[in-house]
Amino acid sequence: MGEVSLLINGLYVKVPAGTTILMAARQLDIEIPTLCYHPDLKPEGQCRLCVVEIGEWPRTRLVNSCTYPVEEGLSVQTHSEKVLDARRVILELLLARAPKSKLIREMAAELGVTESRFKTEDPEELCILCGLCVRTCRDIVGVSAISMINRTPEKQVATPFKLKSDACIGCGSCAFICPNNVIPYTEKNGIRTIWGRDFELVKCESCGNYIAPMAQLEYWAKLTGDPVERYLICRDCR
Ligand code: SF4
Ligand code: FES
Repeated sequence: MGEVSLLINGLYVKVPAGTTILMAARQLDIEIPTLCYHPDLKPEGQCRLCVVEIGEWPRTRLVNSCTYPVEEGLSVQTHSEKVLDARRVILELLLARAPKSKLIREMAAELGVTESRFKTEDPEELCILCGLCVRTCRDIVGVSAISMINRTPEKQVATPFKLKSDACIGCGSCAFICPNNVIPYTEKNGIRTIWGRDFELVKCESCGNYIAPMAQLEYWAKLTGDPVERYLICRDCR
């Protein structure tokens, strides 16, 4: 695989072919805001906040930097007026969608956006539909216990038919990755509750500390081919 040279904000950078503009910009320490990008997940370009302007004036266009691969000789602007205007509109839409989100309010304020001209459906909404939880469950954990359901404005993350999901192993990865702490997750007296299901936590056979739900330990055993007994001792005691 060869290398590709391009200009970002007038700065020359050479990166391996296939690198995204976002990654090339980070190589130059140029900060592009992101919401749905995560280094451990394949980018899907959901939020559009990472938008940048490519091409030469007057033939420029906006693309998502987290999914757009670099091209030889490409000229990129990460903070042009056109880019900042687009980001402000996206943040206005997100403010209308999730007015309670501290993260969105802070990101919006940084660009001078303090209110939205768009309609708010639910003033209590926090979910920004970034999809990180769904992709983590599907692509990292590998169980696909949750998905996006309905169309905008009713779009939301849920288990199938909003019922308790048999596929869920109670690992809590979706709750950990959520940038807005939207997904209810509690642990109390050895019970982990998530997506409306109670999971009894298994205690380490050596120290007695809680490890994880049996469904999660059995899933690890299935993935690795190890006997489940191997996971009944916590990492610290192994
Ligand atoms: S629940 Fe959290 S991670 Fe999932 S889409 Fe909503 S904001 Fe993103
Ligand atoms: S970070 Fe690129 S589209 Fe969300």
